[in-house]
Amino acid sequence: MAITKDFKTMKLVDQLEATGLKGKNLNFLTDLSKEQLMSLFKAAEMIEPFSRDGLELMKGKVLCTMFFQPSTRTRFSTETAMIRLGGHCISESNPLANSSAAKDESLADSLRVVSEYADIIGLRHFNDVEIFDDIKSAKVPVISCGYGNITHPTQGLLDMYTAYRALGTLEGIRVMVTSPDLTRARSGQSFAMGLARMGAEIVYSGPAELRTPETILEKIRSTGCKFEEHFDLSEKEQDELIGTCDLVYLPGCSVPKGQDAREIFMKKAKNYYIKLETLEDIKKKTGKTIGIMHSLPRFAGEFDFNIDKTEHELYFKQIGFSVPLRMALIASMVGC
Ligand code: CP
Repeated sequence: MAITKDFKTMKLVDQLEATGLKGKNLNFLTDLSKEQLMSLFKAAEMIEPFSRDGLELMKGKVLCTMFFQPSTRTRFSTETAMIRLGGHCISESNPLANSSAAKDESLADSLRVVSEYADIIGLRHFNDVEIFDDIKSAKVPVISCGYGNITHPTQGLLDMYTAYRALGTLEGIRVMVTSPDLTRARSGQSFAMGLARMGAEIVYSGPAELRTPETILEKIRSTGCKFEEHFDLSEKEQDELIGTCDLVYLPGCSVPKGQDAREIFMKKAKNYYIKLETLEDIKKKTGKTIGIMHSLPRFAGEFDFNIDKTEHELYFKQIGFSVPLRMALIASMVGC
């Protein structure tokens, strides 16, 4: 044991500054270093006791949210976070009907204009290609609240923060990301990218024809983390694989009703159904409590809802951890 020259009292502003996020956009979690992510989680831990009563860190600041896709959790949680920081929110939940997007204003122009009102922008969009050029027009930081099929970084962060609070560390943990459709699993992919950066092991399990996109795998490989891909496992093989993991993450389906991709997900869901019995058997044999995470919303064919009443349930707890995490994120990106 040795006292280091850095030994001093903890300050929230130091942790927020150490994230290095001030003035930056949030797109992919592999864009952040392990140290930046740890500073964010430490800031969130310091904020957590105040996440209901509030902290006046963003007094007079404005968050504008523009959600081009439906949302309950991400929009309410991001806006709650700003309000609990003492700031204000202006919310557009249907820009294609209510904003100048309905008059064909380009996303780039809208973001340039909204930057004149906002200190930070929360944007959800169906596009995950051109959007990265469009957001360069914004003059204030833009939080991705989910882009297309490939990235939902604030969901990934709140999932990481929940896992970190549940297990005490992310390094070396083994996490299964399993879905009937890994091509459109943006929350699972963001969680995997962030975990990869933290030195966790990623275990993908899904259908061979709907596997993780190469753009995501490239980012995961760049971290040097251990990862595995398993395809078309039998029920027995999937259960055995679950037994080797600490957490199982279900990204759900972010595709709105009426689209083919949602029907495909529903049809294949039974092959990836998580049974409470599997978790109980593993607990009996190994003593290990495997946490079940889901980005929600969920539907009945994905897993046994009796898990709700057990120690395996983490998905509703994730919602609670989302507010302090997003408070830390907004304060880091705006700066205080
Ligand atoms: N998890 C998630 O993104 O939920 P919403 O679509 O309700 O924001």
